[in-house]
Amino acid sequence: IPVDVFDLVIFGATGDLARRKILPGLYRRFLAGQMPDDSRIIGAARADLTNDAFCEQVRAAITEFVPKDRQDPAVIDAFLARLAYVPIDATGTNGWAALKALMRPNVVRAFYFSVAPSLFGDIASRLHDHGIADAWSRIVVEKPFGRDLASARALNAALAQHFSEAQIYRIDHYLGKETVQNLMAVRFANILFEPLWKAEYVDHVQITVAETVGVNGRGAYYDKSGAMRDMVQNHMMQLLCLIAMEPPYHFDPDAVRDEKLKVIRALKPVQPEDIVRGQYGAGSGDKGYVAHSENPASKTESYIALKVNVSNWRWQGVPFYLRTGKRLRARASEIAITFKQPPHAIFDDAKGWRENVLVIRLQPNEGMNLMVMIKEPGPGGMRLMQVPLDMSFAAVLGDEAEETPDAYERLIMDVIRGNQTLFMRGDEVEAAWAWTDPIIEGWEARGDKPQTYDPGSSGPEDALMLMHRDGRRWREIK
Ligand code: BG6
Repeated sequence: IPVDVFDLVIFGATGDLARRKILPGLYRRFLAGQMPDDSRIIGAARADLTNDAFCEQVRAAITEFVPKDRQDPAVIDAFLARLAYVPIDATGTNGWAALKALMRPNVVRAFYFSVAPSLFGDIASRLHDHGIADAWSRIVVEKPFGRDLASARALNAALAQHFSEAQIYRIDHYLGKETVQNLMAVRFANILFEPLWKAEYVDHVQITVAETVGVNGRGAYYDKSGAMRDMVQNHMMQLLCLIAMEPPYHFDPDAVRDEKLKVIRALKPVQPEDIVRGQYGAGSGDKGYVAHSENPASKTESYIALKVNVSNWRWQGVPFYLRTGKRLRARASEIAITFKQPPHAIFDDAKGWRENVLVIRLQPNEGMNLMVMIKEPGPGGMRLMQVPLDMSFAAVLGDEAEETPDAYERLIMDVIRGNQTLFMRGDEVEAAWAWTDPIIEGWEARGDKPQTYDPGSSGPEDALMLMHRDGRRWREIK
């Protein structure tokens, strides 16, 4: 279904995110027929480029980042014809009048701030002062949304000077992932799971986002950030919220975000013994984290594991174990919900018995597994074994699974539709920082150093202990 006609301005249009995600994503929506023909994309950045030069950059980005079988030369040309470019000075006066002259009346106006957060305020006020944004315009801002509570508040305040909350779309691209949204469908469109979704039946939850990539090329940003700020405060927190939240009364932006906010506010402070930080060393052809960070004494973590408690009625006593890291053994993101034992064992085969686990695979090989017990086939008596009820999206949905838009494509279309459900609200981001800040302050005050782990491993040894001492085990990263 096509969205309304729009003018989308991308600030930072020559940057890495625009090149890798935003522009190829828009091309794919155009190819899918979702972007109306008379919509326009206006690139804005400091570089003094002509329209043609910008179009050639975008063509190169499409060639590099869109799968070959989706590259149709005629469609690419038609898409490029929708583009324009304005050189602009985000902190000065150049270019703003030219941008204003390009904007059309009576179409949706969206402004994507794909720039450093330090420029958010400057761009917001110039859009306002030059009369480029109106009361129906939307702005889209990327993470990182601040680096602590104080800076997030300052950013929220700067944006709020010129835009209402209903106009601000804070991106967390994890919310645009198909399987992440599916989590809500699984929970709230089935009767099967929700009655069991509580402390009475759930033993613990594991959330894993493992990456094989290192920090290559992003060392300067990453070293000031680390896994806690880069992944936990936002992506992991959102996943946790979707698992732990109460059913919203409707799939409506504020109803969903209200429930997520309650989860974040219910998070208990994390004790130092419940955190393990790691940094990958040299090995497997990698020079190691510090070589990329250019700070041989860097204490920044490229891995973190932590045990989190949601202090409310539903989750009392159920630990959520979170871990994320770079240069790990495999790229594997999943959520695993381990259920408790049945109240009474009628079979003698206690050894064969395993807990039920619901595994939601976020990437790759998106899908769900429900581990259930059955009788081991054959004449061996009542022996038990565990088998997966396996649903791989690719197998069930076939070609349709391939057609699903990637996170950025979906989120940009949601901006045009004016749907904020999958975007973070200002109070949510602030609450997430309010929980994160004391954790980071704690290790900074103590001077904690991350434990070194081997590239290609499953992370630091100490992370195993985090679960072993509770009589539990991490699922294998594979
Ligand atoms: C980004 C982080 O937000 O998410 C990166 O800044 C990380 O460090 C990336 O690699 C992971 O996203 P995805 O979609 O590849 O899981």
